[in-house]
Amino acid sequence: MDAEQQGRKFYITTPIYYPSAKLHVGHTYCTTLADVAARYHRLCGDDVFFLTGSDEHGLKIQQKAEEQGITPLEYVTPIVDGFKNLWKKLNISNDDFIRTTEERHRLVVQDVFQKLYDKGDIYKSEYEGWYCVPDETYWPENKLTEEHVCPDCKRELIRVKEESYFFRLSKYADRWLEFIEAHPDFIQPESRRNEMVSFVKSGLEDLSVSRAKFDWGIPVPFDPSHVIYVWIDALSNYLVPIGYGTDDDKFAHYWPADCHLVGKEILRFHTIIWPMILMSLGLPLPKKVYGHGWLVVEGEKMSKSLGNVVDPIPLIDEFGADALRYFLTTDIMLGQDGNFSRRRLMQKINSDLANDLGNLLHRTLTMVEKYRSGQVPAPDGDVSAEIAHALADNVRLAEETRQAYVAAMDEMVMNTAFREVWTYVRALNKFIDVTAPWTLAKEGATAELDAVLYRLMSGLREVAVLVEPVIPTAARTMWNELGLDGELSLARLDTPFPAGVTVRKGAPLFPRYEIEEETASAEPVQPAGTDAAASEAAAVPVVPEMTIDEFQRADLRVAEVIACEKVKKADKLLHLTVSLGTETRSVVSGIAAYYRPEELLGKHVIMVTNLKPVKLRGVLSQGMILAAVHDDRLELPFVPGLPAGSQVR
Ligand code: MSP
Repeated sequence: MDAEQQGRKFYITTPIYYPSAKLHVGHTYCTTLADVAARYHRLCGDDVFFLTGSDEHGLKIQQKAEEQGITPLEYVTPIVDGFKNLWKKLNISNDDFIRTTEERHRLVVQDVFQKLYDKGDIYKSEYEGWYCVPDETYWPENKLTEEHVCPDCKRELIRVKEESYFFRLSKYADRWLEFIEAHPDFIQPESRRNEMVSFVKSGLEDLSVSRAKFDWGIPVPFDPSHVIYVWIDALSNYLVPIGYGTDDDKFAHYWPADCHLVGKEILRFHTIIWPMILMSLGLPLPKKVYGHGWLVVEGEKMSKSLGNVVDPIPLIDEFGADALRYFLTTDIMLGQDGNFSRRRLMQKINSDLANDLGNLLHRTLTMVEKYRSGQVPAPDGDVSAEIAHALADNVRLAEETRQAYVAAMDEMVMNTAFREVWTYVRALNKFIDVTAPWTLAKEGATAELDAVLYRLMSGLREVAVLVEPVIPTAARTMWNELGLDGELSLARLDTPFPAGVTVRKGAPLFPRYEIEEETASAEPVQPAGTDAAASEAAAVPVVPEMTIDEFQRADLRVAEVIACEKVKKADKLLHLTVSLGTETRSVVSGIAAYYRPEELLGKHVIMVTNLKPVKLRGVLSQGMILAAVHDDRLELPFVPGLPAGSQVR
């Protein structure tokens, strides 16, 4: 995208999924985020390697195959084909897909196991303890309650007693703690790091790394009566396609991974067990492991056993891959759980994709067709002070948007990155309203009209590039309709728009969906019954009506006050520092007459997060805290039970 950013390598992975059932929309969340990151880095000119795959061994799969009277490979193959088909439909741009049943994977896993053994970190003993079959996880007694259910998935554990090889996890605990201290960014988000540190500090037992009671796995190289524990097998996948043991140069280039993106419940394997294996192998550790939250339905994780899974295929068929990608990337705060709602998906399509972006493209191209016969004019000649001001404002905002976008994408805070882009999209729509090209055309203000149309085309070109990672198909359609040729992913933002090209206007970029309003909100707000109610209602000032889409433009979130002080020389103002879960904001609020700073510490308030930042008395304010007022009274609504970053709607 920009010259100074080119030339880095970026190796990103998703977990490899169990083919014990079809994937649901929760699984597509992680892969979509990884794909957005991979596409962004490709736009930056980075040498990207993006890996996903399937985790096909283990007792769970063997049991499922036995139930159906087929071999495990016969059982998993059609399911894995389904994964590949899903990723294709969702426009996932992975560079490789690893199956743990492949020969190239077996060779690496056995090599890893042998090296750990040769190092003296694997020894034979007997395992007696608890095991979660669905999660393929051993649970030591000291991490369990009396019920002996899996602390992660709450399902019943089985008791296992068998001969097993063990990996000396305990040997690496101190080195691991030192590493975490020296690399505070390794585990993201930060709250998860603390969880992992407590887990290690509470004492690690050596890990059982082989099973002798079933055979669906990779044999231990020096003792084929055992198969390698499925997590050691699975984690090693990250080394395979980048040349471990087969292509030293390639491996040295891509390893260590830049980011393992995983769900929060498997963070322990990726941030404790995997680094300790790598330490034993003498390999550098990944740069970052990011634990994302879950897609939940009414507070429960989507899972087959709860019967609340949403199949992504019909969703993609109905709304398109771009829409689903956009929803997953922008509606959920990375690191926190997010609710999946079909209604919300449709709202986002209508407001952000069809209204804001689609309309902007359509309006602009229509004007270029109408006023310039479809040919993009070159800006030429002096323009009025008013238009010059609007142009300069827009150019500045484009530059700020680009910087904020890059900063957020580099940190993988994608929702922030795209929020910035959409703020700019709305600013471009406003730019049309302010400059009123139809008036310029009527008045024959040729230089002004050319400059405005050219600016709109330039802005749209920039937007097409910035949104490519999340809505790749629509971005390419935009690119084509803007009259641009060449591959969008090779575009450079610092080259000017090629004036003189002819636009190719097409159908609307996104359709709009009819959303059935819930009965309550669809009812006219007329007080039924008592006179008192009628007079109360009459006291509410008349504010122009707005549509639900207009209301949805406000991004309301729960914000936790983490610091608060009075603004100097301003009696009415408090300066709050609030956490939105994955980011911190500075907000100035006129509530000093009602609350003392210390009263607000730790409180969960409601904040409008997508207001344009302003400075009040020299202090940056990046949002507004909601307050209820009556006469001279003011109260903040508090929501103590919900985590920072939760949506308010
Ligand atoms: N096979 C292991 C991973 C091995 S990686 C070396 C595994 N597979 S899984 O299929 O059970 O889960 C894969 C990923 O999907 C996990 O990161 C998990 O968090 C994610 N998700 C499963 N359900 C999910 C939601 N409802 N929401 C978001 N992510 C979800 O674990």
